[in-house]
Amino acid sequence: MSKKDLDWSSIGFNYHVADYRYVSNYKDGKWDDGEITTDAKIVLSEDAGVLHYAQEVFEGLKAYETEDGHIVCFRPDLNATRMMDSARRLEMPEFPAERFIKAVEEVVKANEDWVPPFGSGATLYIRPLMFATGNVIGVKPADEYQFRIFVTPVGPYFKGGAKPIVVKISDFDRAAPHGTGNIKAGLNYAMSLHAIVTAHEEGFAENVYLDAQSRTYIEETGGANILFVDENGNLVVPKSFTDSILPSITRRSIVQVAKDYLGLEVDERPVRLDEVHNFKEMGLCGTAAVISPVGKINDHGKEICFESGMDEMGPVIKKLYDTLTGIQMGEIEAPEGWVHVIK
Ligand SMILES: Cc1ncc(COP(=O)(O)O)c(C=O)c1O
Repeated sequence: MSKKDLDWSSIGFNYHVADYRYVSNYKDGKWDDGEITTDAKIVLSEDAGVLHYAQEVFEGLKAYETEDGHIVCFRPDLNATRMMDSARRLEMPEFPAERFIKAVEEVVKANEDWVPPFGSGATLYIRPLMFATGNVIGVKPADEYQFRIFVTPVGPYFKGGAKPIVVKISDFDRAAPHGTGNIKAGLNYAMSLHAIVTAHEEGFAENVYLDAQSRTYIEETGGANILFVDENGNLVVPKSFTDSILPSITRRSIVQVAKDYLGLEVDERPVRLDEVHNFKEMGLCGTAAVISPVGKINDHGKEICFESGMDEMGPVIKKLYDTLTGIQMGEIEAPEGWVHVIK
């Protein structure tokens, strides 16, 4: 085996066609055995459910090489169960968690040469997805599905990596109250594409969405949950009372890191837009973003500037970032079950 010849430190967050993917199909009420294949193309009938009624759910996690040469991934059991939750909400069959984890292991091992080397700043992004292949014409769930996992090496999600970004308060909504905002379904991201293109054209890195019901409370961004640090250096995490925030695995891990490793208090509660100016630091968290510091929020031309500024991460966000990435890379002892050794 030898690593692919890529310039790992400058690959960006893009798709590279790796050698192998995992595919399992659901038919007659059951999943087949699944297999590793080289075929990156999917052939669908024109009446496949995914093309009409958007029956598609997905996940995102990362594998990386540790200093001692192992390949590991982070809490894949939580991706497995979140995908089961997403599938149930869209009337799709669940792909069992233990099979999900085994499939992740198989596809990463098969693509070992695509795992970026330790210290390169890049990681192997793992994208499990499931979609309706069965035919529908009336509005109803399909009865055939495909579960697939592909991988691609990626660099940082935001250009500039750990440099603070500027985000805007969006006039669009990402998710309806009690809708599908709390599952990882492609339909939520379709909703957000016009908003993100608009934000980028205006020079902002991301959109902060407010709750769609009252437009008063902070929910999350298009691709990450939000963290704030209050004047006492403690963590404040927005909570939705309309259940429309995606339960980020990174955020749930950070909450535990903040309490158990850094001795911080953590307040998970609805956060009003009009109180955000009181906070000292802000960050976006997710598998892709890890923790990305936010320097400013633009609220319809009015700037909310955080004390941490536009040059570097604030001190608390930095500590959280260092501890979380230290745990992920095996430099700091992880809580039981967090680091899943693949090889
Ligand atoms: C809308 C949204 N919120 C939050 C997250 C973060 O979730 P996780 O930490 O599980 O990657 C993501 C995905 O990364 C996302 O797409």
